[in-house]
Amino acid sequence: MKPEIQPNKIVVLSGSGLSAESGLPTFRDSNGLWNEFSWQEVASPEGWKARPEAVLAFYNERRAKASQALPNAAHEAIAALEAAYDVVVLTQNVDELHELAGSTKVVHLHGQLSYARGTSDSPKRYCIGSAPIVLGQLCEDGTQLRPDIVWFGEDVQHIEDARQHVASAAKVLVVGTSLSVYPTASLVKVARGRAEKILNCLYIGKVPYGFNFLRGNATTVIPTVVEKWLSQTR
Ligand code: APR
Repeated sequence: MKPEIQPNKIVVLSGSGLSAESGLPTFRDSNGLWNEFSWQEVASPEGWKARPEAVLAFYNERRAKASQALPNAAHEAIAALEAAYDVVVLTQNVDELHELAGSTKVVHLHGQLSYARGTSDSPKRYCIGSAPIVLGQLCEDGTQLRPDIVWFGEDVQHIEDARQHVASAAKVLVVGTSLSVYPTASLVKVARGRAEKILNCLYIGKVPYGFNFLRGNATTVIPTVVEKWLSQTR
């Protein structure tokens, strides 16, 4: 059953390209993380099993870098939308730049660098900020702590809620993602026909049906889109 479209609701789906101009690397661009590291080794349950210390080192470095990064004009523009709209941000990003910019409804689909969790079947979750996780550091249930990040092959968090949010949005703004990773990428398919749909990135293999593709840096494109949407409410 499709939910009602809420006329004042905007859903933003963001990816690493949004944080690129804050100095954080993307994954699949030429200088992206997956050109420097093997995701099988540092971002999969198999990699964790084989060499947990390599996985911890990879995320410790990213966590330290992310903790130094600042939101950019695109993050701030997205947060500014809340002055006139009900905005839900669905992010693949594991940094907290949306929150730092002032967005108040942020759903992390792929986890968060600032959290760690145990490795039991019902893991406890801890906010660790920018602190590293080391081998031998245990959860209170006695299991090794790991990054609270969704690795390849693991279930994406909150995906059903995310689908409901996209399906009930009057405007959908997709920014800084190559739409390479499922099921998150499939969220664009549940955007409604009569919703206004915009995709901003630098390159996309195939523009999702019904989306208006705006090529360019997020810090240039997003403030312009936001200003247009805010002017519609004045
Ligand atoms: N402004 C706008 N878009 C940009 C910018 C920029 N300054 N720089 C890069 N981009 C775009 C690129 O064109 C590309 O389409 O951001 C996108 C980044 O794509 P990916 O590197 O594939 O990152 P992302 O889509 O976030 O990856 C999704 O893959 O490895 C997993 O879990 C990881 O969450 C990640 C998921």
